[in-house]
Amino acid sequence: MQDSQLALDPLPVHVAVIMDGNGRWAKERNRPRLFGHKAGVDSVREVVETAHEVGIRHLTLYAFSTENWRRPSLEVKGLMTLLKTYLGGEVANMLKNGIRLDCFGQKDRLPKDVREVLDQTIADTASCDSMRLNLALSYGSRTELIAAIQKIGQQCADGELDPAAIDEQLFSNYLYSSGQPDPDLMIRTSGEQRLSNFLLWQLSYAELYFTETKWPDFRGPQLLEALQVFAKRQRRFGRTGEQAETK
Ligand code: IPE
Ligand code: IPE
Ligand code: MG
Repeated sequence: MQDSQLALDPLPVHVAVIMDGNGRWAKERNRPRLFGHKAGVDSVREVVETAHEVGIRHLTLYAFSTENWRRPSLEVKGLMTLLKTYLGGEVANMLKNGIRLDCFGQKDRLPKDVREVLDQTIADTASCDSMRLNLALSYGSRTELIAAIQKIGQQCADGELDPAAIDEQLFSNYLYSSGQPDPDLMIRTSGEQRLSNFLLWQLSYAELYFTETKWPDFRGPQLLEALQVFAKRQRRFGRTGEQAETK
C-alpha cells in the first residue's frame, strides 16, 4: 500500500457534508451570492469525483434545507436552476462511474421541472452500485423524524405494527436514509459549528470535522485532508481507549 493510501485507512463508509459558505465566499469577492453558489457546484463535482475515486460508498450532501425556503425568492430560484443544470449535466458521469442518486427531503416542495430531472436521474441511476450519492434537498431532520413517527403511529393504530417491535433498526427504516449506514464522518465548511437540522438521528456517533474553508474552496485535496484526520481519530463507541484498540 502506498503512503497516501495508508493515511486514508480506515476510510469512512459514509461521509455527510454541510456545504456552507457560498454567500460569504462571493461577498469577499464583491460578487452576488449566486456567484458563490455557482462556484459551489464545481466543488460538488470535484468532491463527488474524489470521494468516488478513493472508495467512499455513501456521500450525503446538504444542498438545501427546509429553513432555506426563507431566503429571498431570487436566491431560491437561482439555487433551483443551478440544481437542475447540475443534475442534467451529470447523469452521463454518474452512469459512467456507477453513482446512484437519491434525494433526502421533501421532493414535492421542489419546482416541478427540478423534480422531473431529479426523478429521472434517480430512476436512470437506480442500478448503479459503486457509490450512493444522497442530495439533501428541502431537507430538515425534525420534519423527517416527525414523518417517521407519524407513519409508525398510524401502523400501530391500524394494528399492523406492535409497539413492542419498535427498535433502533426498525425506526431507521422509516427515514430517508433507510437501508444506508449512518455517516461515519460529518464535514461542515466555512467555520460554522452547528448541525442546522441535519441528520440528527443518523449523526449520533459520527466524527465531526469543521473547517474554516468555505465550500467553493473545498475541493478534492480538502476532502482528502478531512479523510486523513478521520483516519487518525479513535472511535470508542462508549468503550475505553484500550478496549477500542483491541477491537
Ligand atoms: C451554503 O452556503 C449553500 C446553501 C445553504 C444553499 P450559504 O448560502 O449558506 O453561504 P453563507 O453561509 O451565507 O456564506
Ligand atoms: C445549512 O446551511 C444548510 C445547507 C448547507 C444546505 P445554512 O447556511 O442554511 O445554515 P444556518 O442557517 O447558517 O445554520
Ligand atoms: Mg450558510
